[in-house]
Amino acid sequence: MTNTDRPELDRIAFYGRTLSEYIRMFRIDYIDHLKKYKILDCPSGASSFVAEAHNKHGINTVGCDPLFDNDPKILQEQGEKDIEYVVEGMSRSLDLYKWDFYSSLEELRNYRKLALKQFISDYKLGTGKTRYVKAQLPKLPFDDRSFDLVLCGHFLFSYAHKFEFPFILSSVIELFRVCSGEVRIYPLQKSSSRPYERMPDLLYVLKKQYGIACDIVPVPFEFQKDSNKMLCLTRNALDQ
Ligand SMILES: C[S@@+](CC[C@H](N)C(=O)[O-])C[C@H]1O[C@@H](n2cnc3c(N)ncnc32)[C@H](O)[C@@H]1O
Repeated sequence: MTNTDRPELDRIAFYGRTLSEYIRMFRIDYIDHLKKYKILDCPSGASSFVAEAHNKHGINTVGCDPLFDNDPKILQEQGEKDIEYVVEGMSRSLDLYKWDFYSSLEELRNYRKLALKQFISDYKLGTGKTRYVKAQLPKLPFDDRSFDLVLCGHFLFSYAHKFEFPFILSSVIELFRVCSGEVRIYPLQKSSSRPYERMPDLLYVLKKQYGIACDIVPVPFEFQKDSNKMLCLTRNALDQ
């Protein structure tokens, strides 16, 4: 397969997944066990994880994203546009994905629409200043160790083709700074489904230079082929 068969996304999409997908991506074994923790979703994008975890399970969650100072209408339009942008890209390379969780592109689009709908309704509730915070890596507006669990989905490695290594490293260090328990980062692939080439360097620097315990851990989810692993940085292992 040539590079042109596996193109990268050329811009960062305002796009997001549902709680049911987060549970698998981040290997959350028992959602109700998370009630005792404070969770950061960074970046949250158009995901409904924060809305669903808070509203359906009473979990203390915060989502952050550089776009979270926008009007809901603007985010809704951006979200709708980006669903079509990403889905259209996938339609040109269907064989890069495993079609067992989603049986079709149409089903995947429905998950994305559901996530966007649930996110927008919650964002509209005027919780913008507490549950949805404007923030941009590599610097977050949160105190050291202010979250037990920090989730980072479909950003750092998905868009690694757009970032230099120092940005990825300082972003991971920043996610760890605000975390008292575990940071979980998923997937380890780029948007083309190719693995992030500098993962060995990243793990080496995190362990040797910063003394951070980090491991590649299997997860029960694989849509992009081989994307059934996450990177987990541990300060204190969570009981879940
Ligand atoms: C694909 S979405 C995240 C989706 C969500 N975490 C999930 O897994 O479904 C990527 C998000 O990254 C945000 N973003 C772009 N630059 C960023 C930065 N420097 N720091 C944090 N987020 C950024 C975009 O606004 C976009 O909403």
